[in-house]
Order: sequence, then C-alpha cells, then structure tokens
Amino acid sequence: MMGLRAYASPNNKLVVAVMGVAGRGHVLARSFATADNCEVAYVCDVDTRAIANTIKGVQEVAPDSAPKGEEDLRRVLEDNDVDILVIAAPDHWHAPATILALQAGKHVYVEKPCSYNAGEGEMVVAAQARYNRVVQMGNQQRSSRESAQIIQAISEGIIGRAYYARAWYANTRGSIGRGVEVPVPQWLNFDLWQGPAPRVPYKDNYVHYNWHWFRHWGTGEICNNGTHEIDIARWALGVDYPTMVTSAGGRFHYQDDWEFFDTQVATFNFEGDKAITWDGRSCNGRPVEGSGRGTLVYGEYGTVRLGRSGYVVYDKDNREIWKRARASNQEGTMDVRGGGGLTERHIANMLAVIRDGAVQASPIEEGHKSTLLCHLGNVAQYVGRTLRCDPANGRILGDEEAMGYWNRSYEPGWEPSL
Ligand SMILES: NC(=O)c1ccc[n+]([C@@H]2O[C@H](COP(=O)([O-])OP(=O)(O)OC[C@H]3O[C@@H](n4cnc5c(N)ncnc54)[C@H](O)[C@@H]3O)[C@@H](O)[C@H]2O)c1
Repeated sequence: MMGLRAYASPNNKLVVAVMGVAGRGHVLARSFATADNCEVAYVCDVDTRAIANTIKGVQEVAPDSAPKGEEDLRRVLEDNDVDILVIAAPDHWHAPATILALQAGKHVYVEKPCSYNAGEGEMVVAAQARYNRVVQMGNQQRSSRESAQIIQAISEGIIGRAYYARAWYANTRGSIGRGVEVPVPQWLNFDLWQGPAPRVPYKDNYVHYNWHWFRHWGTGEICNNGTHEIDIARWALGVDYPTMVTSAGGRFHYQDDWEFFDTQVATFNFEGDKAITWDGRSCNGRPVEGSGRGTLVYGEYGTVRLGRSGYVVYDKDNREIWKRARASNQEGTMDVRGGGGLTERHIANMLAVIRDGAVQASPIEEGHKSTLLCHLGNVAQYVGRTLRCDPANGRILGDEEAMGYWNRSYEPGWEPSL
C-alpha cells in the first residue's frame, strides 16, 4: 500500500463516481455523498431514468453537490479529479470496470461478487497489486464491530477449535417468467449495459435486477448472497482455499427462464479438518434459527451464531453464555449517519485506508477467496460431481470440463487485460 496517502488531495477531499445506480448504487451514492469530506461528482448509468433519480437522491442528502450524469464509464475515468469509482453495475461488469478504473489510477469500491468467474477474480487481485490502489469489495459485514469481536474470540478459543461453519440465506423470490424479444426501451443503452459480455438480443425480463439469474451476466444466489455469509464462515474458521467442493440442488420451485439454482446446498472442505456448508433458498424463505440469513460456527466446546444483527455464543450443553446485539440494525440505509450502518462503516473504513493507511476491513485478496468459493459451488453444480482443488489457489485439479468455467469469452474489444 506504499504511496497511497500521497494520493489524497491536499484538503483530503475524495471525489467519487458511482457506476450503476438503479438499485444498490443509489444507496451507495447517497452513502458516499454523506461520508466524511467526499463529493459524488458523477452518476454513471446506461438508464437515463436511473441517472436523474440518483442525482436527485444525492442532492437530497448533499444539497451543495451537483453530480454530472454520464452514460459511458470510459468518459468518467478520463477525469483526473475522480479518486474513487464505486461499481454497482451487474456482475459481468465488476472485474472489467475495476481493472479499467485501476489503470486510470482510481481506487475502487466494487460490489460483491468482485468477479463474474474465478479467472476474473485472479485478474482483479493481480491488478490491485500492480496499480497499487485500494480495492474494497461490498461485503460490508467485514466492517461489523460485533462480527470482528466474536471472530477474534473464536480465534482465541471461545468454543475450542472451530471446525465447521454453516452459512444460509432464505428468500421468497417470485418467478421471472419467460422473456420475449422486444425493442430496447428508449431509456436504455443496452449495448453499453452488455459491455464486456458477448452481444445477445434484448428480452423483457433481463433489466433491471433479473439478470442475476441469467448465466450470461449473473452469478446466481450463491454469488449474490453467499458472498456475504460464506465470507463470514471463511473468516471465522480462518481458512482460505478449499480441497474439495460439492453441490446439490437445482431450479426446483418454478419452471421459467431462471438459469441458476433456487435451492442449493454446497459444501467446502479445507485442510486442517474444517468445512463450510452453504444452504441457499431463493424461493422458500423459512428462516433458519429465526433469521433469513446468518452463519453458525461449531467448535469443540460450543457454537456461535452470528449475523448482521449481532451474535450469540452457546456452550456444549446449548446454554447461552454470551450475547451481543447491534445498537442499530438499519443496514444500508441513510437513516444512520456517521457510521451506524454496516455499509457506512465499510465506506468509512475504505476512506481511512486511502487517507491514513488504516487497516483494511476487506482486502480484495480476501474478497476474492470468498467469491471464489461461490464460483466453485456453481461449477460443482454445473458438472454434477465433486471438485478437487489445489489448496494453494483454489484451482480445480484433474477436471478439464470444470476448469472450462474458470474464464469466459468477451465481446471483441472489451477483453480485460493487465
Ligand atoms: N452489498 C450489498 O448488500 C448489495 C446489495 C444489493 C446489490 N448488491 C450488488 O450490487 C450490484 C447491482 O445490483 P442491483 O440490484 O442494484 O442491480 P440493478 O440491475 O437493479 O442495477 C444495476 C444498474 O447498473 C446499471 N448499468 C448496467 N451497465 C452499466 C454501465 N455500463 N454503466 C453504468 N451503469 C450500468 C443498470 O442500468 C442499473 O441501473 C450487484 O452486483 C449486486 O450483487 C450488493
């Protein structure tokens, strides 16, 4: 991280551009606009309606600001005054946009997953090291005080040796139906929306949001939400790359265009006798332990349940021995200013890393390792067999078909390169 402090301007103000603002990016734009000494200078989107709506949303919380609307990310990156690119465009854009931004000398806040596939994740890690800017992935529970506290306690032996973690997510998503080819709406630049992905005709069930469930752009529920809870499981167990990955599940609930799995149980084995499971249910929201998402960590002498709202520690006789709840659980909203919400804390951490060389809550190497587990879960499900992996880097051993999912083809002219 040498040289990062010199990068901040003399008055310490950081100038931000936000890419992709229909959903998550709208929240991030408002959060950055109210972060300490930050200015949102660009609202970048290929949907003219989303640009107008987010400029308005930013000005509501930062009345003195005047963000410019811009359709083409490449124009934004030409502006030397921009310090940070925030990426909340669809997943197929995350790594290519991160790499372009790093090459233009910007720091990057990239939403999870940090890559569309494993190979892109490796490229993002290499690009961060080469261009020496801060890259923070949007796995904001890494900035939870409570999570950091209990994970420290786990590493110090509060439940003995922790050897198994169970991560889950349950929602009641509806069907996405069967799309039909229709003309591209006048408010959308679908060519730039597709960007690095090879071109396909427009259908009426892709934009916005439902691209998550199409393999051409999205990465499925495990990369959408496992990137949060599997990340916590991996952090709690202190493991990196797996030795073995399996997956069971499918698109069980509806018959429609959804190309991923609404039901998935993926398992990851690690050296040192440790394992993680992911239980993802997209269409049946029955909670586990009273919560739609969370992580359980099992050890020799007890169990920890942790999530965004705090944690509980149980001894081996299932007695509750320690508990802590967050003062506020208004995660990701503007209701909590000055570091109350996890997203605001995560942003504040990134700014402190840039300005003061603070310890980073979520270095991109760690974001990549967790995202890679999620990609491997998808690959195990695609090929329908157990994957053996190299514990040094997660690469799949002895299975050419499975390794075929490591990379993708790109629209000519859009191939990311270092
Ligand atoms: N960390 C979190 O808690 C959290 C929460 C929600 C979403 N996310 C992540 O944020 C990302 C966006 O999710 P969403 O639900 O907001 O999706 P969305 O489809 O609602 O919004 C994506 C936006 O990106 C825009 N876009 C597409 N191509 C673009 C381009 N070339 N330049 C600029 N803008 C472009 C789209 O027009 C749209 O406005 C996803 O990767 C998702 O995983 C993270």
